[in-house]
Amino acid sequence: MIKVVRVKNKEEISKKAFEIMHELVTSNPKAVLGLATGSSPVGLYELMIRDHKENGTSYKDVTTFNLDEYVGLPKDHPESYYSFMHRNLFDGLDVKEENIHIPSSEGDLEERCDEYNEALSKQTIDLQILGIGSNGHIGFNEPDTPFDSVTHIVDLKESTIKDNARFFDDDISKVPTQAITMGISNVMAAKKIILIANGENKANAIRATVMGPVDEKVPASVLQNHPDVVIIIDEEAGSSLYKEKR
Ligand code: F6R
Repeated sequence: MIKVVRVKNKEEISKKAFEIMHELVTSNPKAVLGLATGSSPVGLYELMIRDHKENGTSYKDVTTFNLDEYVGLPKDHPESYYSFMHRNLFDGLDVKEENIHIPSSEGDLEERCDEYNEALSKQTIDLQILGIGSNGHIGFNEPDTPFDSVTHIVDLKESTIKDNARFFDDDISKVPTQAITMGISNVMAAKKIILIANGENKANAIRATVMGPVDEKVPASVLQNHPDVVIIIDEEAGSSLYKEKR
């Protein structure tokens, strides 16, 4: 079941998501977190770091699993998701490095997928944080990814490459064309899911996710089949909900 929470702006989205995150990690210090990269969760991560520093909320027994990683960027590239996560979250918390899981895209990619699936199969994610692509992707599960997919290698769609060029000096040629991503069935195995989205360019994807048919053409629409999903959006991302299609 999807619960939609509409708030005024990005800051409010981060606050709402943080409330849920904080409640989980304080009630369950051994929580398993599913984490996302991209611009959407950055405000949430800032609040987690601030709370850790000011109030001492500890993540030392928390385990994390990231959704995805680019193929073709070395780990230490500033835009690798490994670097992103350390810069924007892990460096500011007390999570143990050995409890951090980020898909590796080095060496034999099929082996890396198998290893990640194996690691995921040993744990249950308590709370999965998701952003959403303007094309409805979750993780890097692009449109038409089978709902029963597990961690796999994906060719990024042109729309995703264009959307992410902003992290690569607006130069499409610098954006990796492939990624390794948790599959849709890995995401759906989480006990609870929070999807956060802001801005006008997410409005159609949010509408299709919440109101459209459950269809592999819109990967996020699968969330309608999950028992506990909270979608937190600002006014712009929610601007097409419950209206005639534009
Ligand atoms: C990131 C990820 C993607 C992003 C999505 C939205 O790990 O899996 O699905 O959540 O592309 O990106 P932003 O938040 O940058 O708009």
